[in-house]
Amino acid sequence: MSTPARLTSPHSQLVSGLDAVGQAHMLNFWNALTQSQRDALTNQVESIDWAAMPRLIEQYVRNKPVFALPPDVQPAPYLPVDPDAAVRPWNRIAAKAKGEEMLRAGQVAAFVVAGGQGSRLGYEGPKGCYPAGAVTGKPLFAMFADAILGAYDRYGVHVPWYIMTSPLNHDATLEFFAAHHFFGLPRGSVNFFMQGVMPSMDLSTGKVLMCGKGEIATNPDGHGGSLRALHASGSLDDMKQRGVTAISYFQVDNPTVNLLDPVFLGLHAGAGGPGAPSSAEMSSKMIPKAYAEEKLGLFCAHGAGPRKGRVEIVEYSDLPMEMQRERLPDGRLRFLAGSIAVHVLGREFVEKLNTDAAFELPWHRAEKKIPCIDCGTGELMKPAANNGVKLERFVFDALPLCEQSVVLETDRIEEFAPIKNAEGQDSPQSSREIQTERAARWLEWCGVAVPRGAQGRPDCVLEISARTASTREELKAAGKLPRAIERGQRLAL
Ligand code: UTP
Repeated sequence: MSTPARLTSPHSQLVSGLDAVGQAHMLNFWNALTQSQRDALTNQVESIDWAAMPRLIEQYVRNKPVFALPPDVQPAPYLPVDPDAAVRPWNRIAAKAKGEEMLRAGQVAAFVVAGGQGSRLGYEGPKGCYPAGAVTGKPLFAMFADAILGAYDRYGVHVPWYIMTSPLNHDATLEFFAAHHFFGLPRGSVNFFMQGVMPSMDLSTGKVLMCGKGEIATNPDGHGGSLRALHASGSLDDMKQRGVTAISYFQVDNPTVNLLDPVFLGLHAGAGGPGAPSSAEMSSKMIPKAYAEEKLGLFCAHGAGPRKGRVEIVEYSDLPMEMQRERLPDGRLRFLAGSIAVHVLGREFVEKLNTDAAFELPWHRAEKKIPCIDCGTGELMKPAANNGVKLERFVFDALPLCEQSVVLETDRIEEFAPIKNAEGQDSPQSSREIQTERAARWLEWCGVAVPRGAQGRPDCVLEISARTASTREELKAAGKLPRAIERGQRLAL
């Protein structure tokens, strides 16, 4: 790992250092700042790797980097949702048994990335506090805690939970957990750590934006920042001490994620039988894209070159649309496998990345509306159009670094009800509908009559806590189910 070049105080050195990289405007209001504001700004400046910034600004802000597709890009092979399918069959029973054994032995950690800004949803506060339960309005964090409590009921082990926050939402997240008594989890099994930040830059000039006279506008460095932050925070060491080998990674905005899925964990560990890969370093779940233009990252494979055979997720905007529309003879999309951002990371794999001096994930640029001050007048500006660039790293860029990787197909309704936008697709409303549809399917499978409307949609609102069940089989085993659901009923189980 290279040592970042930092600027250090005293003030004169800060000025000349920032001047040398064309960023001295950050100190324009120095004389108007109090001593504590000066100290805070100095700390912020000193935490940035200024040797790297000019290259990043040139490459990602002043220019838009052209994405290079993997050589001879191919669709990545995946294990089908039906383990008895003709192509790549696998052994579900063996995989599940292995995953359950790992859970019972305390070898699994849950890991949620919750450092994002959630700007599309427009919710005040950390997204994990958002009331997402279709019936109960439970916060997302509480829904995940239910899954961890459910695993305790089933496997007799308190799965340690690691929560990545950012400096922008860390305190609020901690306060929320404290106010809710950690949702019934033992305090010692819940671990918080912060990811890093990057300065946000002006879209046209590449100058670092200031959100106040003494404060740099920053953004969290992307969910890919988690790979460094897991190490830097001591979380990887903590996991090692606890005997954790597999890190179950999920995003904070998906209330139906099966976050401790023994089948997936067992496949990752190589117990899927001869049709499945031997143990993997990083594994992923995928859903078949509903239509060619659907905006999901696509599982691809390198068809040639030094990484031949390795998996890589290509963003929907980077794969040419004519390729995304290609169909197989049976009519299915050739590039079918869409990412739902659910992974298992091998603990040793993340350790290996952090001890590799050459390890570096690429940056991705996003244009945003970033409130900032005019560094001439000090006036606060709320831009109506995109004025800034934020740079982020993506966790899935670690996939091509893996020698072995499992991609497992799953059913969209089972595990993907994301809350990204305030309205429309991937919104709280669409998430509630998916939660209800999934619960309806499970109940029907258990023999419960569920009222459905003309278009086949459930005519009721349903929510099944992950503490009650994380699969339809567990729901059946839980018992005490009603014979039928009433039309218009709201039922939480
Ligand atoms: P998104 O890509 O949806 O970004 O994050 P976001 O910042 O939450 O939302 P928008 O784009 O501003 O609307 C996907 C997941 O990655 C986490 C988020 O918290 C979410 O769980 N994430 C994202 C981080 O933990 N850190 C980041 O820097 C970015």
